[in-house]
Amino acid sequence: MPKSIGFKKINVAVFISGNGSNFKNLIKYSLKENSKFKIGLVISNKSNIKGLNYAKKFKIEKKIINYFNIKKAEKDVLNQLKKNKIDLVCLAGFMKILSINFIKNFNGKIINIHPSLLPKYKGLNTHQRAIDNKEKYSGCTVHYVNSKIDSGKIILQKKVKILKNDTSKRLSRRVLKYEHLIYPKALNKVLSNL
Ligand code: GRF
Repeated sequence: MPKSIGFKKINVAVFISGNGSNFKNLIKYSLKENSKFKIGLVISNKSNIKGLNYAKKFKIEKKIINYFNIKKAEKDVLNQLKKNKIDLVCLAGFMKILSINFIKNFNGKIINIHPSLLPKYKGLNTHQRAIDNKEKYSGCTVHYVNSKIDSGKIILQKKVKILKNDTSKRLSRRVLKYEHLIYPKALNKVLSNL
């Protein structure tokens, strides 16, 4: 059977708040021949961010959501997900916390990338905290999103050695390269279980 027949791509929405390098990288993978997913929507809580340029460049539907009122914001986001027939959400540097109610609505279909070796260093400033605690490794984790911050089931993880004289900036730049490796891999793993 020709590849294009009987094969429906999973429609993914990416949520961002900043540089969007993971977003850009997921776009790159989505455009590969044989990719199981496409990116049908990008959601941002900010209008002036670098990441949104990729939406323009690759002609991806974008929605900027005002998070002044979280209840209203999440209602708007859910409407957008419905309207664009989204199957799965990838958080990629999205700096807003999703409510339990929102997560329930998309249960088991939201994943996130976090710059630490979870369950260590949930929350912010992960690499600095790892350096301060004289850890040998930092890294990154792709995980399912549940009602507790950075606590859902782990899908993939990559250890990155902390070098002598590493700064948080240098380390995060190195880890980001591995984020770009594991996020698409983790996404494919999730898709094969859908
Ligand atoms: C990444 O380090 C990711 O792990 C964290 O936020 C950062 C986003 O980077 N959640 P980018 O916007 O994808 O470049």
